[in-house]
Amino acid sequence: MIFLMFIILFSLHYPHIVQALGITLSTDQCFMVTEFFEADTLSGMLCTQGKFSEELVKPIILQAASAFGYMHNLNMTHGDIKLGNLLYSKAGVLKVIDFGLAKKFRPGTLMRYRGGTKPFMSPEILQKKNYDGPAADVWALGVVLHTLLRKKHPFKKKALQVSNKIDGFIMIIIILI
Ligand SMILES: *[C@@H]1O[C@H](CO)[C@@H](O)[C@H](O)[C@H]1NC(C)=O
Repeated sequence: MIFLMFIILFSLHYPHIVQALGITLSTDQCFMVTEFFEADTLSGMLCTQGKFSEELVKPIILQAASAFGYMHNLNMTHGDIKLGNLLYSKAGVLKVIDFGLAKKFRPGTLMRYRGGTKPFMSPEILQKKNYDGPAADVWALGVVLHTLLRKKHPFKKKALQVSNKIDGFIMIIIILI
């Protein structure tokens, strides 16, 4: 599992994905060395500065969407998109981190349930059904977008299992136009 993550991360070279540089081993631990990128997570920013304006959210979502588009074109999904896995610098550069749940997929086939972060999971993952990997990443990015704009998760606890998939896509499309 860990090695799959290393293989995936070392094969990614993209301005909006944190670059893996090497691995160091101690007797009982394994560390990954990545580029240094001075930035805050989006969850940290939401706590310190409150709701994001549409103007601020646009470049964030565009850069994130481009990183996930890059991965999906390589037949890989991130699998754990959330505020805490997106770094944003003062200069306005976004980088994606944490590839612990990243996975290769075969286009046109569904992926098997493999966990993640509940509030960002699409309904079919919550129901532990097989799911379309790239679409689930898009769903999670829609949740990120909503949460940044409203400082509030789009689904109440009880509604998580019956939420409407369309919302996620529409939210993304509006901002890209
Ligand atoms: C992605 O999958 C398609 C279909 O299986 C394949 O043709 C293509 O070469 C794959 N791309 C990469 C980068 O692995």
